[in-house]
Amino acid sequence: MRILVVAASKHSSTTEVADLIGTELGSLGHDVRREPVETAETGDAEAVVLGSAVYMSRWMAPARDFAERNAAVLAAVPTWVFSVGLVGAEADDPLRIEEKVLDKVSPVGAAAFTGRLDSAILSLRERSVTRLTQAPEGDQRDWHAVRAWARSIDAELREHLAAGTG
Ligand SMILES: Cc1cc2nc3c(=O)[nH]c(=O)nc-3n(C[C@H](O)[C@H](O)[C@H](O)COP(=O)(O)O)c2cc1C
Repeated sequence: MRILVVAASKHSSTTEVADLIGTELGSLGHDVRREPVETAETGDAEAVVLGSAVYMSRWMAPARDFAERNAAVLAAVPTWVFSVGLVGAEADDPLRIEEKVLDKVSPVGAAAFTGRLDSAILSLRERSVTRLTQAPEGDQRDWHAVRAWARSIDAELREHLAAGTG
């Protein structure tokens, strides 16, 4: 199936998670379009995967804007959403996915992945925020979990297709 994979990222850890999701779906035989979330069009996509890094408890604006701009399409085609953040930074919301986005998109599935915090590449302001939240330093990304989620999207898409045609 034709799948559009887009994600908002500031320091590239979410971009790399989206890249792996795209690669994995491609290796399972899908026709994947991996595009910048700022400019991507849903076009002829038959499914969409939309992700964002979480900053200050929120999805980044480009991902929220994408959901807003494409709300009608995303409600009509099977859509999966994912967040990348740091466990513990926002313990009250395990999925860390913007509620407004969930309302708009009604995703088939949602996932939250742990990200990467490298204080060497952060601005002073960012560093002071992360000190306050006591987010753990380092690359916490679980590539195995990301790959497994991509495979579950493939399985759910096949079910979706079978339900639609059967
Ligand atoms: C200033 C700042 C604020 C953050 N706020 C949150 C937060 O509210 N919740 C969370 O789960 N992670 C938070 N994080 C962790 C980031 O989501 C994590 O570092 C993520 O991997 C960044 O993605 P990116 O490299 O794609 O920009 C924050 C990180 C920074 C630097």
